[in-house]
Amino acid sequence: MDQKLLKLAIDAMQNAYAPYSNFQVGSAIRSSSGKTYSGANVENAAYPEGCCAEASAISAMILNGERIILDIVVVGKGDDLVTPCGGCRQKIREFSIQDTHVYVCDPDGLRKTYTIEQLLPDSFGPKNLSNNHINAFQS
Ligand code: THU
Repeated sequence: MDQKLLKLAIDAMQNAYAPYSNFQVGSAIRSSSGKTYSGANVENAAYPEGCCAEASAISAMILNGERIILDIVVVGKGDDLVTPCGGCRQKIREFSIQDTHVYVCDPDGLRKTYTIEQLLPDSFGPKNLSNNHINAFQS
């Protein structure tokens, strides 16, 4: 895993807005162009309106016209692995290819690497709707 991507995710985590959970999360993406994008969780007093770090990073990538995630780092503190939540697994899957790697980290470094297939087996996706717009994810 690229340490630069982890550094971007940690920088994002430090700017997370998480006054309700006090659980800051950062994420960083390397897209198919090689560019990087980052995001953090942004909570809201109306709790369900909060946004996860991965969703923020994906939005940044999409806003730059990109569609394919090659690598995504998720970073948070604590003893337990900060794996993407269920909703984020689906969001990552939308823009993944078979080789996409999900790196679960803490501020000290990599803890575990997953493929999106491991995190979301037999997933529903664009192909279910005969929408081959990224024409990349084969399973
Ligand atoms: N959170 C993320 O940002 N990403 C995840 O995949 C797990 C959870 C955030 C949402 C909320 O702001 C806080 O962590 C506690 O759930």
